[in-house]
Amino acid sequence: MTGRQTAAIVLAAGLGTRMKSARPKVLHKVAGHPMVGHLMDRLAKLGVERTVYVVSPGMSEVGAFVAPAPTAIQDQPLGTGHAVLAARDALAGFSGDVLILYGDTPLLTTATMAAMVEACRAETDPAVVVLGFRPDDPGEYGRLVTGAHGELKSIVEYKDASDAERTIRLCNAGIMAAQSEKLFALLDQVDNDNAKGEYYLTDIIAIARGQGESCAVVELRNGDEVIGVNGRAELAAVEAIAQGRLRAAAMVAGATLTDPETVWFSHDTVLGQDVVIGPNVVFGPGVTVGDDVEIRAFSHIDGAAIEDGSLIGPFARLRPGARIGRDVHIGNFVEIKEALIETGAKVNHLSYVGDSRVGAGANIGAGTITCNYDGFFKSHTDIGAGAFIGSNTALVAPVKVGDGAIVGAGSVVAKDVAA
Ligand code: UD1
Ligand code: CA
Repeated sequence: MTGRQTAAIVLAAGLGTRMKSARPKVLHKVAGHPMVGHLMDRLAKLGVERTVYVVSPGMSEVGAFVAPAPTAIQDQPLGTGHAVLAARDALAGFSGDVLILYGDTPLLTTATMAAMVEACRAETDPAVVVLGFRPDDPGEYGRLVTGAHGELKSIVEYKDASDAERTIRLCNAGIMAAQSEKLFALLDQVDNDNAKGEYYLTDIIAIARGQGESCAVVELRNGDEVIGVNGRAELAAVEAIAQGRLRAAAMVAGATLTDPETVWFSHDTVLGQDVVIGPNVVFGPGVTVGDDVEIRAFSHIDGAAIEDGSLIGPFARLRPGARIGRDVHIGNFVEIKEALIETGAKVNHLSYVGDSRVGAGANIGAGTITCNYDGFFKSHTDIGAGAFIGSNTALVAPVKVGDGAIVGAGSVVAKDVAA
């Protein structure tokens, strides 16, 4: 059954009341990126033809985030089976395999998604494939009831399970893959006659079996992938795992992290080769770092690009739009925002440089401030190549200092300085 297409349904209609948040749960961030965004990125990597996000009424923020992918609205939270059915119209005309994911389970890897789809296409032609795992504490997860040959016979929800069924260790992670041609027909047969009074997605297994279909389990080795976020404590646990993955990937790719546990990455941080990152460095979204860059302890870097050979920190703050050229030095207690610092320039101590260009080889003395804001408007400061700005200078923008100019310490520069 190769050549079949893949679609995904991401369930995100749960109200997430335990987050105690005004924001939809799936927009809470992990490694600087909404949980649902992690799934979007991995689905793009996997290569799915279509994705539908199932949301509840009033979750237009989620719709805006996932656009142009369609959202389907589940008018009432009547259960996971009801939620998947809500996606039927949005998948009209689709024929192939459908992955069902949870928007609040953001650590699921592309490899596991691919394994699910592949299992769906196995010789045995299973109608539904379920992701199983064996948590240390099976708690209230649904239990997978399997037969003598490991075939999946049914899923029983904890609240509906007998004492014997509750001793089963193999649990339902919630993620499924199913043949689209069978999925919705199976869901039409699900009722809500159970302990929770919900339409359980999990009931399609027993229904499929009753119709002579086979169902299969893909068993996860590492249950970390399927930790779902219900409250803030789980959000923090998921963040910790995501950071562990990012740190490991950075080191595998050739960066030195002196004290990895204290470095915080964004999901999209890009590091070159032979980058050295000291303790307690934090990366916000949108950072790229070239080769042979050293970032010393306690620096906070957000939306910045750093070219090869530069030295940043300790205690540096690079904000969005900071473009640090080659072999630049940015020292302690220096803040750079929306500024281009050209090759070999030095801003070593206690400065704010915003809305500026600092030319190649310029030296910005300690305590220099670009006064870029007059209370109403932001203005630009341009400092020429090789200029020397004495300590404690205030550059009142808009202002221009020419190439090679020297500004004495303690100056307030409100007019252009010639080259
Ligand atoms: C579900 C499974 C259970 C499994 C567990 C794994 C069912 C019936 N049970 O239980 O076997 O062990 O996940 O975590 O499927 N959602 C909607 N609309 C709804 C209900 C849920 O979109 O009406 C979404 C939620 O936002 C969430 C996901 O579906 O992302 C799972 O819902 P949840 O209520 O957490 O399911 P569990 O009871 O944990
Ligand atoms: Ca859950």
